[in-house]
Amino acid sequence: QEPQSARRTKTPAEIILETPGIPDELKKKLLPIISALTSGGRIMASLIARGPLLGITGSAGKENIQGEEVQTLDRIGQDTFCQLLGETQKVRELLSEEEPLPTLFPQADPDGLLIAMDPLDGSSNISVNASIGSIFAIFSPPPSSDRGEIFGGDKRKLIAGAYILYSASTSFVIAVDQKTYLFTMDPSFGGEFLGTGEPLHFPSGGKIYSTNESYFPLWEKGIQDYITWVKSGRKPVMTSRYIGALVGDLHRNLLKGGIYLYPAEGAPGKNHGKLRLLYEAYPMALICQFAGGIATDGDRSILSIKPGSDLHARVPLIAGPMDLVSEFHTKTGHPL
Ligand code: AHG
Ligand code: MN
Ligand code: MN
Ligand code: MN
Repeated sequence: QEPQSARRTKTPAEIILETPGIPDELKKKLLPIISALTSGGRIMASLIARGPLLGITGSAGKENIQGEEVQTLDRIGQDTFCQLLGETQKVRELLSEEEPLPTLFPQADPDGLLIAMDPLDGSSNISVNASIGSIFAIFSPPPSSDRGEIFGGDKRKLIAGAYILYSASTSFVIAVDQKTYLFTMDPSFGGEFLGTGEPLHFPSGGKIYSTNESYFPLWEKGIQDYITWVKSGRKPVMTSRYIGALVGDLHRNLLKGGIYLYPAEGAPGKNHGKLRLLYEAYPMALICQFAGGIATDGDRSILSIKPGSDLHARVPLIAGPMDLVSEFHTKTGHPL
């Protein structure tokens, strides 16, 4: 006997359709894009669930532009989302972690949107059946006269951020029009994503900090002092949780209240942090902001950073509810 759902449920499309703040023209582009993302999420969740049986939990035997070893599922995520997003004809350009340059879709609506994606986040978790995800930033393009500076420059606007979390269940979280919503895939109902329709808010008083503490010796002193303080000086002291996939770590912190930190390190290649601005930090920053939180690089808001010419540029990332991130800033001497 299955438990009955006690709540009315809504799909992402229903939420978008009934949001008056999203202009109709934008709805016509967002709806097929969201449908492509959720379809891709269904395909990925199904493949991931059978990963070892299909032999897709290992390396693809290549390196990407960032010098990381590409995993088979990174490649599958890239191909799946690229094809589905291209078919919508509402995406003009797709930037991906796994490709040096954006993919252009010349057949698309000339006023189509731009997407930056991390097709598979948490690659090192694939082979051990731990949480992984996919992340998307959706931008409106600059005015037609400014084409050519599509992802760089400051003329395009971030209008939505989303992620899919592949874990015990598959979640879809989207931030749009000042609100963040959570949906859960129902595999027994055609893989539909369903949610309550109520916006998500970080709970206050969270006590979790999430960081890869093995890098402690490489951090600047202000960060070291903050981490030492949250463990022993702060009242109440905080507890550590780290999955090693940004999607999983942020998702837990969004639901339970917690601060995520991936600071810069004094090591070559990571002196700007590890996470990529366009397809990791930006969408997560929007998701945090619309849930009553904020994401910063330790100094300024992530959403105030203008991307430069390197589409794969990295930034330090501090993300979470307002109370915890602002406490971090005060303690490290960069008040918000
Ligand atoms: P990706 O798998 O897309 O390359 O991203 C990896 C990122 C992110 O998911 C995670 O939070 C972080 O790398 C973990 O890095 P460490 O192993 O250095 O902690
Ligand atoms: Mn990677
Ligand atoms: Mn990632
Ligand atoms: Mn990735």
